[in-house]
Amino acid sequence: MTQHEISFQINGHPEQRSVPSNLTALYFLREHLGLTGTKSGCDTGECGACTILVNGEPINACLMLAVELEGTEVTTVEGLGVGDDLDPLQEAFVEFTGTQCGFCTPGILLQARNLLNRESDPSPEQIESALRGNLCRCTGYHRIVQAVQSAAREGA
Ligand code: FES
Ligand code: FES
Repeated sequence: MTQHEISFQINGHPEQRSVPSNLTALYFLREHLGLTGTKSGCDTGECGACTILVNGEPINACLMLAVELEGTEVTTVEGLGVGDDLDPLQEAFVEFTGTQCGFCTPGILLQARNLLNRESDPSPEQIESALRGNLCRCTGYHRIVQAVQSAAREGA
């Protein structure tokens, strides 16, 4: 398989790697960079578990090739908070029990981060709409919406 050199920023750090042309961004992040916070759910763009931010926009990493990361700025859940210094969204998810098994949580956090970057005071309907592509089998979504609203109120 042809290899390609890519340079990009991952969670604020410059990175340079050689990747095969058929490798998805999802498996590149998980298996080459060890960033396993990005989850593999369906691998077909249906569940949102693999959501990352590429140049600030939410992307399903399972539908993107690693070579397409060339020249981009990527944020994964590992880049949201640093150590105990959590993103206010993460703190709100803890406070409101917005997570149960946690499998969907990284993707939902990044999708919500994108929403709050665009809209400082979203309505419950706007939050539900933003998270429509992120499936959660555990929580029923109510507490997730509460957590995002609370983080927004705190100026997240
Ligand atoms: Fe990418 Fe489900 S794993 S959308
Ligand atoms: Fe289990 Fe969302 S917390 S899938």
